[in-house]
Amino acid sequence: MLTLLLPFLLHMTTAVAATASWSHLQPDFYSETCPEAESTVREVIKEAMIREPRNAASVMRLQFHDCFVNGCDASLLLDDTPNMIGEKLALSNINSLRSFEVIDEAKEALEKKCPETVSCADIVIMAARDAVALSGGPDWEVKLGRKDSLTASQVESDNIMPSPRANASYLINLFDKFNLSVKDLVALSGSHSIGKARCFSVVYRLYNQSGSGRPDPAMEPSFRERLNKLCPRDGDQNVTGDLDSTPTVFDNQYFKDLVLGRGFLNSDQTLYTFAATRKWVVKFSEDEVGFFDAFVEGMLKLGDLRSGRPGEIRSNCRVVNNLPLHPARAMALAY
Ligand code: HEM
Ligand SMILES: *[C@@H]1O[C@H](CO)[C@@H](O)[C@H](O)[C@H]1NC(C)=O
Ligand SMILES: *[C@@H]1O[C@H](CO)[C@@H](O)[C@H](O)[C@H]1NC(C)=O
Ligand SMILES: *[C@@H]1O[C@H](CO)[C@@H](O)[C@H](O)[C@H]1NC(C)=O
Ligand SMILES: *[C@@H]1O[C@H](CO)[C@@H](O)[C@H](O)[C@H]1NC(C)=O
Repeated sequence: MLTLLLPFLLHMTTAVAATASWSHLQPDFYSETCPEAESTVREVIKEAMIREPRNAASVMRLQFHDCFVNGCDASLLLDDTPNMIGEKLALSNINSLRSFEVIDEAKEALEKKCPETVSCADIVIMAARDAVALSGGPDWEVKLGRKDSLTASQVESDNIMPSPRANASYLINLFDKFNLSVKDLVALSGSHSIGKARCFSVVYRLYNQSGSGRPDPAMEPSFRERLNKLCPRDGDQNVTGDLDSTPTVFDNQYFKDLVLGRGFLNSDQTLYTFAATRKWVVKFSEDEVGFFDAFVEGMLKLGDLRSGRPGEIRSNCRVVNNLPLHPARAMALAY
């Protein structure tokens, strides 16, 4: 009997060893060390949203941009240093990502209550969940216990983060690299139910789609006229427009808008244009509960993307602990 079981047991041991770095993520990770962690973050997000409703969208987006680049490790939050150009300068992030100060506020509140305990990577995950829940969307339990990265790289972000010009077949392939399904892609794109985008992200679509010199034919004409006014050909590309027609409420209106040809970004409207994604757009436009369930599933998978690199609990989300001195400064101090 034992000889029969032995190969099985050996197999089990290797499997456990290979996934050991994953196994410590759990819902009650801070229940002993920082029982107020989740209520503290939620309170900070609630206040940030009262100050400015868009903070919900901006905070939630951070989870996507952090987790796609080397896992959910708060690499996104690191400011540049003389030795390191981080992700904040990457094309998808510069002049675009915002609300980093809301994460800082949550971190400061947590450092007062339980110093050096709660990672910035976990704060992003909690904050994204809270932003959705407080905007009228679903609420869910998150797994915690992540570590914060020691480095960040602009190039890594530029190589991965998708352009708003991307089409559905490109996005299907990209998400598949993270083991995210077509359904996950469409559901997670439903995050654009809240928030805004810049004219920068849409002008080519209004005036020169795919180099054609013409607008994207998938845009409903009256919607296009409105966008033409908001984003004239030679206008200020930092002006922003709403990603759906109810930009502070997390609901399935985004999908209803796509069905009507009123998606803001090409990457949004393409989900309705392409057959492989259209059925999910239609489904979610008719079934808000189905959308919410699929969105939660997608956010959990996104939150499970792990970094294989060493980490720490940062005390300031913008800098690594014990930042080594820049060589020039070290030299100056030595004399
Ligand atoms: C599917 C591929 C995606 C593309 C190509 C994409 C692209 C974009 C772009 C271009 C913007 C506007 C940026 C600007 O003009 O400054 C934006 C905004 C936003 N994105 Fe995405 N996104 C994608 C998926 C996601 C996912 C998966 C999430 C979250 C789970 C997300 C959350 C958001 C939110 C909430 C905003 C509004 C942020 C704000 O108002 O500050 N996006 N996205
Ligand atoms: C989608 O985008 C990719 C990459 O930009 C491009 O190579 C491909 O031709 C596009 N597919 C369609 C059907 O437009
Ligand atoms: C996707 O799943 C495969 C098979 O389970 C696994 O080997 C791979 O590491 C996963 N990829 C990511 C990015 O999680
Ligand atoms: C439209 O895009 C094409 C290809 O990118 C480019 O060659 C052309 O100059 C653009 N036209 C205008 C009016 O910007
Ligand atoms: C938007 O504003 C920033 C400064 O806030 C500026 O550096 C950038 O060039 C502007 N971008 C566009 C697309 O107009």
